[in-house]
Amino acid sequence: MLAKVATATVLGIDGFPVEVEVDLSRGLPSFDLVGLGDTAVKEAKERVRAAIKNSGFEFPAHRIVINLAPAALKKEGGGFDLPIALGILCAQGLLDQQVLNRGMASGELALDGTIRTVRGVLSMALAAAKQGKEYMLIPSGNYAEACVVKGIKIIPVQDLKEAVTFLQTGREPENPPPVEEIAAAVYSEDYADVRGQEAAKRALEIAAAGGHNILLVGPPGSGKTMLARRLPSILPELNWEEALELTKIYSIAGLLPAGTSLLKDRPFRSPHHTTTRVGLIGGGTYPRPGEVTLAHHGVLFLDEFPEFHREVLVVLRQPLEDGMVTLSRAALTVVYPSRFMLIAAMNPCLCGYYRDPVQPCRCTPLEIKRYTSRISGPLLDRIDLMVEVPRLKYEEMATAGQGESSTVIRQRVVCARRIQEERYQGRGIYCNAHMRPKESKYYCALDPAGKRLMARAVQSFRLSARGYERLLRVARTIADLEGKAKIAPSHLAEALQYRGLESDFYRQWR
Ligand SMILES: Nc1ncnc2c1ncn2[C@@H]1O[C@H](COP(=O)(O)OP(=O)(O)O)[C@@H](O)[C@H]1O
Ligand SMILES: [Mg+2]
Repeated sequence: MLAKVATATVLGIDGFPVEVEVDLSRGLPSFDLVGLGDTAVKEAKERVRAAIKNSGFEFPAHRIVINLAPAALKKEGGGFDLPIALGILCAQGLLDQQVLNRGMASGELALDGTIRTVRGVLSMALAAAKQGKEYMLIPSGNYAEACVVKGIKIIPVQDLKEAVTFLQTGREPENPPPVEEIAAAVYSEDYADVRGQEAAKRALEIAAAGGHNILLVGPPGSGKTMLARRLPSILPELNWEEALELTKIYSIAGLLPAGTSLLKDRPFRSPHHTTTRVGLIGGGTYPRPGEVTLAHHGVLFLDEFPEFHREVLVVLRQPLEDGMVTLSRAALTVVYPSRFMLIAAMNPCLCGYYRDPVQPCRCTPLEIKRYTSRISGPLLDRIDLMVEVPRLKYEEMATAGQGESSTVIRQRVVCARRIQEERYQGRGIYCNAHMRPKESKYYCALDPAGKRLMARAVQSFRLSARGYERLLRVARTIADLEGKAKIAPSHLAEALQYRGLESDFYRQWR
C-alpha cells in the first residue's frame, strides 16, 4: 500500500512543499527513511514508532519505506514526524487518501503521541495556502502564528489521536488555544529625558524618518547610548507585509513568544561587541538567522563600534548594502533578509576625549589613527549620517525644562514615512534608504542651484558614487519631513552637514 502526505520545509524564510511517501510491503519488518534528511529527521523513525503504539494504533509489521520528496531539497527538524505517522496510518487503511490530499501537516511527535511545536510554521502555512490546500494540521502551540494566514483552515492538534480524529470525522479539536493580539509597545524611555544634544536628536529624527544608518561620535558620558536606546520610541509601527516577514523570521529562529500572532513593533537588537560572526550574520551547520536578520525592518545598535571584532565588521557590509545575507554551506545556500537601520556609537579615540574642549586627549596621533581606522573606509561609506555628540555644558545639564517628547517627534516621522510608502507603492521598498538608482534618478532630481552645490560637495567631501547616492537619499528624507515634493538646496545642505564630521575628522587620519 502506498500513501502520500503533504508537508513543508523551510529554506531561508520561505516554506517549500515536501511530499512524504510511505510504502508498506510484505517482507521482513523494517523501517527505512530516504530523501536527504538530517539526524533529527532520521530519529523520526523511533519517535513515530513509539507515538503510533502509545496512541493506541497498531504499528505495521511490514517492510516500510519512507521517502521525502523532492530528494534534492535539504530537510531538517522534527516537523516530519506527524506527516510520516499519518502516512503509515493511511497506508494501513486507517485514513482516507482523498482527505489527506486536501491538506498539509507538520509537527514533532513525543513518544507518547503528543505533538510538539516546530519552527517556521508560519512560513509553512503560507506555502500550504499558496498550494491551494484546504487545511493544515499544526501543533497547537504554533496556532497563534499560523492563524494569520488567510484562505486556509488551521487545525491545531495536541496529539496524534486528535489529528486522526479530524481526518476521519472532520471534527475539529475543541478549545483551540487563545490567540493574543500583541499590543504595541509602550516605551518608558523618552527623548524628553535627554538634555541638549539637539543636533543629534535632529539627525536621529531624519534617520528614523528615512531608515538611514547613523553614527554617533562623542566623549564618554555625553549620552550616546541614551540617545540610541530611545530610537524605537520614534519609529513608526510595522506595516502588514513587514510584520508578516518579521514574524516568519522569529518563528524560524524559535523566538516567537508563545500565543502571540503578528509582531507589531520594530525590533531593536543590540548585540554586545564580543559577538561572533555567526551571532551577527547567522549561520551554523543548519543555518539560523543572526542579529542582522533579527533586526530586519528595525534597528541594529552597535555600541562601542570600534570594539567589534574586525571580521565581524567586515561581514556587516553585505547586509548593509544589499539588505540580505547569503550563508553558504556545503550542501545549501540560504538567503535571509536583513534590512535594518544601523545605529552605531563610538568614542572619537582610545581615551575618549579627542576634540573635547575640557578634558585633554591623552592619545598620540598614531593611536588616534589606529583607533579610527578600525572603522574601515568601505564601512564608513555605508553610513549616511555622522553626528558629534559633545560633552554637555553646565547650563544644558542644569536646565529644568524638558525637550521635545518622543510622541511629538514620532508624529513627524510617521508623516514622512507615509509620504514614502505612497511614493514607493508596489515597488517592494518602504523608505528612502532603500531607494535604488532607478528611483533616485526620478525622485531626487536637483534644481540648478542644487546641482552646483552637489558638484562642489563631491569635490570637497571626496564623495564616492555610493556616498553621492546616499547623500541624495538623506536630502530626500529631509524634504519629506518638510512635506516638500522637490529637494531644495537647503535640504541638500543639511544632508551635507552630516558628512562634515567625516571629512574634517576621519579623513585626516587616513
Ligand atoms: N544629554 C543628556 N541628558 C541627560 N542625561 C544624560 C545626558 N547625557 C548623559 N546623561 C546621563 O549620563 C548617563 C550615561 O550616558 P550614556 O548615554 O551612557 O553616555 P555614553 O554612551 O555617551 O558614554 C546616562 O544614563 C544619563 O543618566
Ligand atoms: Mg555608551
